Amino acid sequence: MKKINNAELNSNNTDEIVEVYGWASKIRKLGNLVFIDLRDRSGIVQLVVNSDNENYEKVLEIKNEYVLKVKGKVIKRSSPNKEIPSGEIEIEVIDIDILNISNPLPFDIKSENVSEELRLKYRYLDLRKEELQNYLMTRHKVTQSTRKYLDSLGFVEVETPILTATSPEGARDYLVPSRIQNGSFYALPQSPQLFKQLLMVAGFEKYYQIARCFRDEDLRADRQPEFAQIDIEMSFVNEEDIFSTVEGMFKQILKDVKNIDLPLPFPRMTYDEAINNYGTDKPDTRFDMLISDISSVLKNNQLSLLQKEFIGAIVGRNSEAQFSRKKVDEFAVLLKNFKVDNLFFVKYNNGFTGNVANSLSEEEKESLINSLNLKNGDIVFIVAGTKKQVLQALGALRLSVAKYLDIINKDIYNFLWITDFPMFEWSEEENRYVSAHHPFTMPKDVNMLDDPENCYARSYDIVLNGYELASGSIRIHDRNIQSKVFEKLGISEEEAQRKFGYLLEAFKYGAPPHGGIAPGLDRITMILCGTDNIKDVVAFPKTQSASCLMTNAPSKASEKQLKELGIKF
Ligand code: AMO
Repeated sequence: MKKINNAELNSNNTDEIVEVYGWASKIRKLGNLVFIDLRDRSGIVQLVVNSDNENYEKVLEIKNEYVLKVKGKVIKRSSPNKEIPSGEIEIEVIDIDILNISNPLPFDIKSENVSEELRLKYRYLDLRKEELQNYLMTRHKVTQSTRKYLDSLGFVEVETPILTATSPEGARDYLVPSRIQNGSFYALPQSPQLFKQLLMVAGFEKYYQIARCFRDEDLRADRQPEFAQIDIEMSFVNEEDIFSTVEGMFKQILKDVKNIDLPLPFPRMTYDEAINNYGTDKPDTRFDMLISDISSVLKNNQLSLLQKEFIGAIVGRNSEAQFSRKKVDEFAVLLKNFKVDNLFFVKYNNGFTGNVANSLSEEEKESLINSLNLKNGDIVFIVAGTKKQVLQALGALRLSVAKYLDIINKDIYNFLWITDFPMFEWSEEENRYVSAHHPFTMPKDVNMLDDPENCYARSYDIVLNGYELASGSIRIHDRNIQSKVFEKLGISEEEAQRKFGYLLEAFKYGAPPHGGIAPGLDRITMILCGTDNIKDVVAFPKTQSASCLMTNAPSKASEKQLKELGIKF
């Protein structure tokens, strides 16, 4: 007798005697018949037991989530259920074993109205839900597809340490105290960045790893403190080699996971273009609504609130009727995050209305119509401030307005390279330049290092539907360039030695030119699953405050442990 997955059974199995296993997911008693939906990983099959059946009394004891072993005969259903693959048949029970009983569950796994807290506390029960099982299956497929593809190109999978020293990604480290050397700490890797570079020095040429990374940073819907990267590094390559390798990888993943033929190559956009047109370095290109610089149009406007360094606008096409005054005020609240106090707007419909319409001269109206190509029914949102402030605010507004208008096509995957990042960013907090990517990134032009504001890096990101999916760069393999970059970053020789001395030492022994990239595994899975919550694609995720509600980690250590570690609070 065959042990069969529930969802594989269909009318071709009619009259076969089969053995199935699973959980009682729904039990109904109708007259002298008991129906049980038996659930296994593959899906549901219906069991039916008649009161004449010798198992009937035992069947009456079965409650939800009891674990069952069933031998039975496949019969055609009189009224098929089109919702499930096995819906044409049911199993007439011959023998049934209760393999285990279950307490009543703390929540109904099929219900939508259960708090996230409760679901995370009992994550293993929540994971019984088909939706979450499908998400983890998708993750599995992404991982398998990645491995198959990279292996076929001769990449070698190498694991790197988890107990290690600080890495250069710029978030806070998770530290692990050493028992044997009291007062010393390991850092958990923020990424395997330095190890993968060392593997290039070692001569591996093509490395990858599904790598665990740990970062103690503020969490968001697309961030976990512990996540996975498809970490890649290659020797003797330039940007084009890395781009084509990674494009091929995503083509393979989309084919394997979604049966989609992704067109290649991915479009490219420079960082400056992204910032100026979309107000962000991770633009969602599934809809237009680009930012326009209308500073010159309104430079002489009578309204003093508009007289700022930069005036930007976005246009909601043919949608003015959907924006009541109250609705616009709701969007204005969003701009407070960027210290923008006023959201101006005009509606165009055979003339202008809106909160700045009265301040517009005839010439300004004409010029707005032409520069924004306005048509009847359009609404223009206008923000004034510093250039950075306006672009960021309009970038965020653009997304919210598009969501509200429901103009984002959810069925497309807009992969996009962002190139030509700045090499440095000024950090107000630290009062110095910091790396826009990390300090091992090669500048585009070494001579520009003396002009940090205008120095560009050989780094790149992949953006997918508005998410930063991957980052990477061509690395510095030349000691002199590296020293100069450290100097520009205000990292002293001593600090560089202390933090990254082993890498700098390695670079003395014939480091090949190399570069790489690291796509986030959780993020690609999340996007392919069509969810915007990264927790959905992590088996045992952490909350916003980085706790695991199931294991209660992090938790207090015992006095004995602390003593051994030489730690006192
Ligand atoms: P970076 O820090 O940009 O680059 O990270 C690369 C990618 O990792 C994912 N990611 C995250 N995913 C979930 N939760 C997080 N907290 C999180 N942080 C990052 C994102 C991101 O694009 N060593 C370099 C890569 C390189 O240069 O090769 C690095 O780690 O998808």
